[in-house]
Amino acid sequence: MLVDSYNREVDYLRVSVTQRCNFRCQYCMPEKPFEWTPKEQLLSYEEMFKFIKVSIDNGVKKIRITGGEPLVRDDLDKFIKMIYDYKSDIDLALTTNGFLLKAQVKKLKNAGLKRINISLDSLEKETFWYLTKKDALETVLSGIEAALSEGLFVKINTVMMKDINEHEIISLYEYAKQRGIQIRFIEYMENENATSYLKTLPSKYVLEEISKKHLIDEIEKKESSAAKLYKDESGFVFGIIEPYDDSFCKSCNRIRLSAEGDLIPCLYFEDSLNIKSAIKSDERLEEVLKTVVKNKPEKNKWSYNTNNNIDTTSEVSSRAFYFTGG
Ligand code: 5AD
Ligand code: SF4
Repeated sequence: MLVDSYNREVDYLRVSVTQRCNFRCQYCMPEKPFEWTPKEQLLSYEEMFKFIKVSIDNGVKKIRITGGEPLVRDDLDKFIKMIYDYKSDIDLALTTNGFLLKAQVKKLKNAGLKRINISLDSLEKETFWYLTKKDALETVLSGIEAALSEGLFVKINTVMMKDINEHEIISLYEYAKQRGIQIRFIEYMENENATSYLKTLPSKYVLEEISKKHLIDEIEKKESSAAKLYKDESGFVFGIIEPYDDSFCKSCNRIRLSAEGDLIPCLYFEDSLNIKSAIKSDERLEEVLKTVVKNKPEKNKWSYNTNNNIDTTSEVSSRAFYFTGG
């Protein structure tokens, strides 16, 4: 079992398989980075798998594949199958923008993928384009339908931004509800890579908007879940993710591996250790893993100021989301 210095059990590993992406989300990668890390410097699937085996042997129970956009890396289904064949009861999940999903979802499911989170920030063609710089709404929606018909457990991630998709709270909610998909509204996190004019829409506005139409109640969530969960009068469950809130950190159970091999204890700090030099020895990999778990900080440095407005003026994350995998 992996336990950090604040007595949190770490059993969740997020693995970014690439920084590259076919979208240019304004909150993540508005411009193509000056240059991509050359492919030779990325970990191979075999190298990632070596580390994953050591992590599973030490108590990791959940693995989520992220990016960039993970489906732009070739043969992702083969990588998923390697993990599934090693431990079939691992909670194996993927986060994707959905663009390449329709074509790949059957292979992914057959390889052992169980759950999938798909980003969807707008149901309007224009707004979708404005946010991602890709005319891809219909393609993503058909990817969502394909994942559902494969029987995968699907969630939708929606980043909320003031004045941009604020008016779509109810339509996104109803879209998810009609399909029985859990939607999670995420507060936009400021970071140095994002387009500068984006503003966070605090979750209280999202809840107020939904409350105008539905009777909602907070329900008990799994200790380690990043989302607060709510249920409406019909039993439909949705989530709110408040990355600026401290309770988010209290139950943090995760570490992240970047495509270049950096093992990252917390999204908010620059700190990390690279696993490459340890890759030939399971003992050394285990050492790196345990050191990074021990180095997990207690909490992020963002907070609410006295007016209950989000105050990020002093601490804006400089590490890109497409690098850490969100
Ligand atoms: N703020 C909040 N969430 C973000 N993501 C990426 N960038 C941000 C950000 N700045 C999350 C979104 C997206 C996933 C891949 O990462 O949920 O759907
Ligand atoms: Fe790509 Fe996801 Fe970042 Fe959008 S949020 S640019 S889809 S990695």
